[in-house]
Order: sequence, then C-alpha cells, then structure tokens
Amino acid sequence: MSIYIDPAVASSLRGFEMPEKLGFGAVMAPVMFRAVCQDGCWSSGELVPYAPLSLDPAAKVLHYAQSCFEGMKAYRTTSAGISLFRPDRNAARLAHSAERLCMPPVPEPLFMDGVRTVTAYCANLVPATSGESLYLRPFLIGTQADLTVSASTSYEFYVIASPSEAYHAGNMRLWVEREDSRAAVGGTGDAKVGGNYAASLLSIARLKKRGYDQSLWLNPGNRQTVDELSGMNFFAVIGGELHTPALSGSILEGVTRDSLIDLARDLGYTVHERAIEIDELLSQVADGTCEEAFACGTAAIISPISVFGDNGENYQLAKAPGAVAERLRQALLDIQEGRTEDRFGWMHPV
Ligand code: COI
Repeated sequence: MSIYIDPAVASSLRGFEMPEKLGFGAVMAPVMFRAVCQDGCWSSGELVPYAPLSLDPAAKVLHYAQSCFEGMKAYRTTSAGISLFRPDRNAARLAHSAERLCMPPVPEPLFMDGVRTVTAYCANLVPATSGESLYLRPFLIGTQADLTVSASTSYEFYVIASPSEAYHAGNMRLWVEREDSRAAVGGTGDAKVGGNYAASLLSIARLKKRGYDQSLWLNPGNRQTVDELSGMNFFAVIGGELHTPALSGSILEGVTRDSLIDLARDLGYTVHERAIEIDELLSQVADGTCEEAFACGTAAIISPISVFGDNGENYQLAKAPGAVAERLRQALLDIQEGRTEDRFGWMHPV
C-alpha cells in the first residue's frame, strides 16, 4: 500500500537540531508514522510531523489499558548504510501482544512500512557513535470512546523514534523483589504491554530509596525462581557457562536475549535455559561460583550487574563488568554496527 507523506514533514526535519547529549528516549525525532484500524480494516500509513495525539477522554486505552508496544533500533553501519536489527521479531511480538489484549495485530507489511519509513526519513538522525542508535518505538492503542469493558472497535498504530544512547549504561545494583509480582500467572507477562511496566514502578521507587537501580522479579507463581528485570532479561555466568531463565509465560521473550543465546553458542559457550532458583543463585554469588551476571534488552544492550540486594544482605559479584558480558556486548555491536559479517541474517538494510 502506498504511504502518504505529509508535505509538512520536510520542514519538520529541516528544523530539527540534534542535541549534543542524547540520553535515552529523551530526544524525539520530528516525524512519526500513523495508521488506523476501524472494525478490523487497516488504512495504509502516513508519515506526519511529530505532534500530540488527539484522544477522546473515554478512549479504551485510557481506562482498560488496550496498549502494547515494541522497542527496536536502527544502526548506522560502518559502510555508512542504515540497518534495522531483526525487525521481523518485533513485528511478530507486537502481533502476539496485541492478540493477548484482544487487539487486531498490525499486519507485518504495515509494521515494516512504519519502521522503514520513519528510519529512512530520519537517516540523518541515526547516531554514528558506537552504542548509540535510532531507537524506534512502535505502539498500538485502542481508541474507541466507550466505557463498557469490551475490546475497542478502533485502533491507532504509531512509530515514533528517538536518537539515543544505551539505557542503563554502567553497573547495576539489583534488588530481589520478594513482596510484589510484576505479572500474574496466565496474565500478560509474555506480552509487551504498558500495564506490566506500570506494575513495576512502585518496586523501582521503593528500591531507589534503598540505593538500588532495578528490581529482579521472581516467578509470580512459585516466588522462588528468577524471571527478569522490569525491562530486561537476565543472564548469569556460572562455572564459565551461561544460564538464563527459561521462558515461563511471565517472561518477555527478548529479541536481545534470543540473539545473545545464538551468539554465545556460536562463540563456543554452553547456554542453559532453565529455572534458576534465587536462593541457589545468591549462594553461588556468595561463594564465587557465579562469577558475573548481566541484564540485556534492546534499549540497554548489555548492562552488567554488580550487586544483588536481598533481605538486608548485599551479594557482590566478583566481576562487573565481567569478561563474558563484555565479549558478548562487543560481538553483538560488531554485527549491529557492521564491523563483522552478519552471519545470522539479522540486519535489514533500509
Ligand atoms: C527495550 O529494551 O526496548 C524496552 O522496551 C525496555 C524499556 C526501555 C521499556
């Protein structure tokens, strides 16, 4: 389908000044992609200047949280081209999240139109510094004005973009969250929905006061095994091998998680996807068997973990950042930024 380009897009892009300090998700590209769905029928998309949305105060998204999103990145490669990292995985995950919330999945061709068009028009906004990128945030919301608890009949799909540094650069101090749960068993833990992030905020506010950076969530059913962080998956290096929680239904299937598993195996590491008991993990940190741990995600890439705080005790990792995390981070960035061959077929030139 052909994409309508609003004539005002050109002047929005001309008037944009890239600040020296980017941060994460703080600087918004001056254009956005938009498509609407009415009674199951999708429009072709349009590229328009970035602007506030006009929403009815009774829109379903505001009351019943019909909202899901993706996080993905466009990289400037060493050949001066621009490529998206595994956009097909984000398209599939957004469709999965949408289905969980009874929303119509965004068709993959429309999703690709959105992320490709925004990236192509924002080509000059893709940073050239290693570790920085154009962070893309596709999202889908239910817009029907109606207070009955039922699925919306109308939806809007957007792609906004933000030239960004990595999120959570530096070592992280984790707090083992034993009080609250982030997602319910059978709930939305394996979907990327706003409500999961809202459910993590109170824990984050509590732990910040105690001097920690992020919550480590436990499985909501057994309260014993590690699930993930609020916006990142978890890995531990134990006896030189990688261990990550198996997908349990309450863990988001991270694209970076999946890529690191493939990359690590390709580099010769043994990777275990299994249930990780928190008490066993903490004792392995205490006796040094667990040498390093890190979190990963699209926004963060890889963030080393330096400490686990639990019940007033601090369990200090021997190495932060550790050699395995450093090696994987570099190997992933080398593919994303075009310094090594893309042997997995992950990069999609725009
Ligand atoms: C991402 O890594 O892209 C995320 O969505 C995590 C967070 C910034 C919400």
